[in-house]
Amino acid sequence: MTAHIAPTAILLSDYTPFSHLIDHVTLHFTLHPLQTRVSARLSLRPNPAAVQGQDLRLDGENLSLLSLALNGKPLAHAPDETGLTIPAADLPNGPFTLETEVEISPQTNTSLDGLYMSNGMYCTQCEAQGFRKITFYPDRPDVMARFDVTMDTDLPTQLSNGNPTGPGAWHDPWPKPAYLFALVAGDLVAHTDHFTTLSGRRVTLNIYTRAGDAHKCAYAMDSLIRSMRWDEQVYGREYDLDIFNIVAVDDFNMGAMENKGLNIFNSKLVLATPDTATDDDYARIEAVIAHEYFHNWTGNRITCRDWFQLCLKEGLTVYRDQQFSGDMRSAPVKRIEDVLALRARQFREDGGPLAHAVRPDSYVEINNFYTATIYEKGAEVIGMLKTLVGDAAYADALNLYFTRHDGHAATIEDWLQVFTDATGHDLTQFKHWYTQAGTPHLTLTDDFKNGTYTLYIKQNNPTTPGQPHKDPKVIPIALGLLSTSGAEVLPTTILTLTQAEHSFEFPNLTAKPIPSALRGFSAPVVLHQTQSNTDRAILLAHDTDAFNKCEAGRALAKSALTDHILHQTPTPHDWLAAITAVTRETTLDPAFRALTLRLPSDDDIAQTLHASGHIPDPAAIHAARRTLQTDLANHLKPHLPSLIAAHQTPGDFSPSAIAAGHRAFRLGLLSLMARIDTAPATHAYQNAKSMTEQLGALAILLDNGMGQPELAQFHAQWQNDRLVMDKWFGLQISMAAPDHAAHITKFLTEHADFDWKNPNRFRAVIASLAANHAGFHHASGQGYALLADWLIKLDPVNPQTAARMSTAFETWPRYDQTRQTLIRNELSRIRQTPNLSRNLGEMLDRMLG
Ligand code: PHE
Ligand code: ZN
Repeated sequence: MTAHIAPTAILLSDYTPFSHLIDHVTLHFTLHPLQTRVSARLSLRPNPAAVQGQDLRLDGENLSLLSLALNGKPLAHAPDETGLTIPAADLPNGPFTLETEVEISPQTNTSLDGLYMSNGMYCTQCEAQGFRKITFYPDRPDVMARFDVTMDTDLPTQLSNGNPTGPGAWHDPWPKPAYLFALVAGDLVAHTDHFTTLSGRRVTLNIYTRAGDAHKCAYAMDSLIRSMRWDEQVYGREYDLDIFNIVAVDDFNMGAMENKGLNIFNSKLVLATPDTATDDDYARIEAVIAHEYFHNWTGNRITCRDWFQLCLKEGLTVYRDQQFSGDMRSAPVKRIEDVLALRARQFREDGGPLAHAVRPDSYVEINNFYTATIYEKGAEVIGMLKTLVGDAAYADALNLYFTRHDGHAATIEDWLQVFTDATGHDLTQFKHWYTQAGTPHLTLTDDFKNGTYTLYIKQNNPTTPGQPHKDPKVIPIALGLLSTSGAEVLPTTILTLTQAEHSFEFPNLTAKPIPSALRGFSAPVVLHQTQSNTDRAILLAHDTDAFNKCEAGRALAKSALTDHILHQTPTPHDWLAAITAVTRETTLDPAFRALTLRLPSDDDIAQTLHASGHIPDPAAIHAARRTLQTDLANHLKPHLPSLIAAHQTPGDFSPSAIAAGHRAFRLGLLSLMARIDTAPATHAYQNAKSMTEQLGALAILLDNGMGQPELAQFHAQWQNDRLVMDKWFGLQISMAAPDHAAHITKFLTEHADFDWKNPNRFRAVIASLAANHAGFHHASGQGYALLADWLIKLDPVNPQTAARMSTAFETWPRYDQTRQTLIRNELSRIRQTPNLSRNLGEMLDRMLG
């Protein structure tokens, strides 16, 4: 095995304040593709809260140092691989200025981190540690400074943080950490609007794109204005600059970035027209525009002391954007979708070798911790906190948080202290949610005697890597009780678990009730309960809680699927009858019916089988899912044509949640219909009036081994639209039959338009292979080998994206010995690649254990 240097882990327990404070930063950029010059002037003074007399250590990577001066006097210190040290002996005891000039090469920066170029435009990405690729600086979030920025370039659009002070000149009045710095220069057009804040400040809003895309910004702008209004109304948070700019870029590693006053977005999360963006795209755009805007308070005005506190800004901001989307759309449907995503991504992570706490205490590469655990579980923890203290106390706590910590770099301890001070709650035990990884498993049993119903709940916290011992967690369980005729005999009540075992009594009942536990998914846990299919059907028909109503349908489907896989049990009639009833229930929201109609994904079934002690067989799961779908289609057959006709959305396209719900439901019905007859899907493709319908119909055709002419037509129609072509690439792979998935992927990687250095295109192809469960886990091992080849190829070019994609392998311990060996061999093969990045190296080490 090739020796690799063991990378050093950064520890939370090693935190110390920085030696100096920076009052002000002046930056000047002379932009050039290969030789950009960056002059920096830092006004520093010793930090009274730090040990005195320390060296000044500045971070810096891939910077050619041209000059260095302290209080105007040149210094001769040379930088090393990771930065520059000015020895204490050279430093005054009071304030001083440090000036540096460096040269960097944005054109050759393929990592998309630091200053880079995308389609002739300069842009930056500094979170988490990209600023050190721009200039020598203490690149850590607790060093906050005021910035002035100027630039020299012929390009007409010249943007940075804060308010403009002249052409290409910007002043940001708010102290900020370096990770929130941004600069953009390009030949861009603005879609402009305005917003007047609560206190009457008129703010200019711009969304910048390439010239051809200017007409695709209306929905993003509308989402921004609604976000600004909502944050005032719900959280009392007002915007604090004269201008708010958003820039769309085609080459971006993540979704978007909350740089102060200058959010930078992956273009797929800005650009939308009815014929190019799906309803899911619209919903994502609305959510991410809101998310980045909300960061202005939760992230920027109050930032993180260090990167271990990442969930302080991300968990809270996800929680806020989920609330916002719930308010803009259907809150119950949004909640169901969020929980499905949480289980698909976060439970998967929490149950495998990459499990980590919401607040980890060590990392090698911080970019590997922008995870579903930090973001989505981080948001769930806040939802639980709100449930435990109540809505009014939550509002008080947030107000205290904003006043107490404005302008500070805070910690999870600060956050919890605010709740304790505002509400009187002792959160000592609650803090385990932040420090202990893993998904709690709850087991529910019950009995009924002499009119009293007793519920017994046990919690079990499985071990995770590096955390063999877990304490019981505080778990809020929202519970309702239904009678066997479906009447609610106990409305939602919160039971709070604090110990490993509890029992709860409900007296004065005439008959044994049916529990509806964990309503609204009141805690991120796995619930084990023995429910009869009859009880599930009653909950599906009558539960007043939309989440548990849908969940009952999924429980029926899951038991049908697992029984079919493990015992070849035929599709149960009670499931078919119950789903048919919901499907035909016209009083229910079509979006809700669409969700109930959708079978659990292959990966979800694999996760469920693994959690109950079975080894999932990807091919068998795939076959079972298709069998059940076909049986459901045949059962629903008499109703399908009329339902499909009834959910046609008439008139002009609307991106509203209601219209989207009709489209989603109709596509769900068409997909069932296609198990019997694909003609209606072909017809739907030909008559599609939106990308949702066009892509949805194409997916159905491909899923049934058809659609080749439509695929060619789609290509001809959209070959000049990058974002739509990403869909064309991805769909063929995610819909490929298991035996063909790896082959089709390989074929598409040889396509002239497979621009693998573009993260969107890379993901469209490679992540779609990983998402095709039976194809990726095909017994041949071809899917594994192909992914490994591409990770090895991408790593030197873009280590962040390579590391992120490696999580496709994180579920290896679920599978049989043969597959485990195949995957581990690929992981070892990647690990042995010379000069592997710290990013991918850390991921492999954690997965290999
Ligand atoms: N902070 C960004 C967000 O949550 C995500 C991000 C992280 C973007 C790192 C780029 C790099 O919206
Ligand atoms: Zn965020």
